[in-house]
Amino acid sequence: MIPFPDSYDNELRPLPAEQMSEDGREAIESLKTKGYEVQTGLTPEYADAIAAMALEPSIKEYCPNDSGSRFINRQTTAEWLSKKRATFLLLHKSDNGQLELAGYGWVGAKQNPLIPGGETTFSLRVSENHQGKGLASPFSVSMLAAATAIYGAKHMWLETWESNGGAVHIYHKIGFQDVASKQEERPTATGQMVADTRLFMTRE
Ligand SMILES: CC(C)(COP(=O)(O)OP(=O)(O)OC[C@H]1O[C@@H](n2cnc3c(N)ncnc32)[C@H](O)[C@@H]1OP(=O)(O)O)[C@@H](O)C(=O)NCCC(=O)NCCS
Repeated sequence: MIPFPDSYDNELRPLPAEQMSEDGREAIESLKTKGYEVQTGLTPEYADAIAAMALEPSIKEYCPNDSGSRFINRQTTAEWLSKKRATFLLLHKSDNGQLELAGYGWVGAKQNPLIPGGETTFSLRVSENHQGKGLASPFSVSMLAAATAIYGAKHMWLETWESNGGAVHIYHKIGFQDVASKQEERPTATGQMVADTRLFMTRE
């Protein structure tokens, strides 16, 4: 087991399928049949691609901190990485063999008083050009299985908004269970505040 990374990589790495759980290997195969693969690591060039993707309206709506603070540019992304985060990139192989960023996610050590025993935070984004194709489940499962195989990550948890029906559906589908909720105001993509419920979930 190695510690979570805290800086940029020179190149991305494939997932270690042979060391991963069966559901992780099945997720890799499912993505492959759709023309996608997941690699781990983060280069400055892919930080640029994440910064562009973070500006998509659906990502700004539910994840405003991505374009607002985390992934504004290479410098803010380097600061975010220094908190020890393992990045996973969903890549689509185009007809000319080029790899295009179709999604990103990460895991890292983080605790929350509302999640007793929760050790590893997990986040997920799929680009609008690739949404609705059934990618979120296999991307998530391959990411979680790889995080366990590479970093020994366990006791995963996440937070999401109740109104984000697609995300809530996916998280339940891959085995996350609700453990807490909090009525809050959510900042929207346009900067307004709306009433919503923050959901906290865990997966063993
Ligand atoms: C949420 C997100 C990850 C889903 O990714 P995706 O690849 O489009 O999702 P998929 O196509 O794999 O699956 C969507 C599933 O949710 C279901 N769904 C979609 N909208 C739904 C809704 N409002 N309520 C319930 N289920 C819904 C679909 O029927 C599908 O179900 P199925 O897998 O059982 O067939 C993606 O839309 C995204 O990145 N959004 C912006 C960022 C974000 O919200 N991230 C999560 C932050 S917590």
